[in-house]
Amino acid sequence: MPSCKLNLCATLISTSLVFTLLLAGAQTNALVGNGLARTPPMGWNSWNKFACNVSEQLIKEIADAMVASGMKKAGYQYVNIDDCWQVSRDSAGNIVADPIRFPGGMKALADYVHAKGLKLGIYTDAGTMTCEKRPGSLDHELQDAKTYAAWGVDYVKIDWCHTEGLDPQKQYAKFRDALAQFATGVTIIAARGHEGDFVGFTATSFNSVSLDPPLIIWSLGRRSRSLAAFENATRYAVNVLAHDQVDLARRFSRPHADRFAGVPYQLGDAAAPLIDGCVAWLECRNHSRHPVGDHMLFVGEVETCACRPLPPLVWHDGRFHAGALWAGGAKRGS
Ligand SMILES: Cc1cc2nc3c(=O)[nH]c(=O)nc-3n(C[C@H](O)[C@H](O)[C@H](O)COP(=O)(O)O)c2cc1C
Repeated sequence: MPSCKLNLCATLISTSLVFTLLLAGAQTNALVGNGLARTPPMGWNSWNKFACNVSEQLIKEIADAMVASGMKKAGYQYVNIDDCWQVSRDSAGNIVADPIRFPGGMKALADYVHAKGLKLGIYTDAGTMTCEKRPGSLDHELQDAKTYAAWGVDYVKIDWCHTEGLDPQKQYAKFRDALAQFATGVTIIAARGHEGDFVGFTATSFNSVSLDPPLIIWSLGRRSRSLAAFENATRYAVNVLAHDQVDLARRFSRPHADRFAGVPYQLGDAAAPLIDGCVAWLECRNHSRHPVGDHMLFVGEVETCACRPLPPLVWHDGRFHAGALWAGGAKRGS
């Protein structure tokens, strides 16, 4: 019977525009400070009741039932497909879902589950084959991680069958490393709150979407304390942090009585703090907001921006990197 020996889970968050891969909550690793998996993932798994008898129809019915029965309201959010959803690999080595049992494909199934406000989990195995002798992920770790992300999968269970001669520490680390290879910059997104106070938080979900018009996106957890303030703000600032601003990135991701206390900043046209020492600042007007899973996706229209030729702070592999990936000067702009 499949079981997850190291209790390792990977959380994949995807939107149609950008995806961020962050490893969350491995028993043998320190908790990554990205706000994910602060509580154990709670949900449903197909194996004990249905074993290999999984299908798209079953998963949809379970998602419907989790909402109708009140399980979702009680906090259970994952619908996890265990072994037997996969049948082969194609000529390029991509994992292939059973076309008879999952005729609509995994992406459409993830969309269905997400539309219910739930998350989709999937199953693989660190070895050559899964426990039920379907293709395992050995030597396909990065390729499979990319496939699951493209489908919009939120969670991966990695089993430990057919792993003769393999070292679990090394094999699970390969998955962790594959999932954490998406490097980003680090921003502090800030706005003026309801009562003239300021709100701001550390975000790596920031990305550019369009040059004409100039649009950017970022997302904020729907349980975030500053969500209401950002939803009410018509304008806000995106501060792109420099290599020596790790302390600020940490401060703005943790509870703090006043995150802006003692932080030098200027007020720009958007009346939001532009923090001194950053590599770039963008002042934005709210374009639109979209609830996506447990986050609110913000689209902003850039009104003004400026930058300085400094190494940026980088978030990669679950850690801050102080400009280690920087190979040159930024373009000047205003
Ligand atoms: C490197 C890093 C990146 C983060 N990116 C995001 C993000 O993009 N969106 C988000 O909602 N939280 C993100 N977080 C977590 C928030 O910064 C954290 O939950 C913060 O406390 C939210 O502030 P608030 O609850 O006051 O709104 C990130 C944390 C870190 C350390």
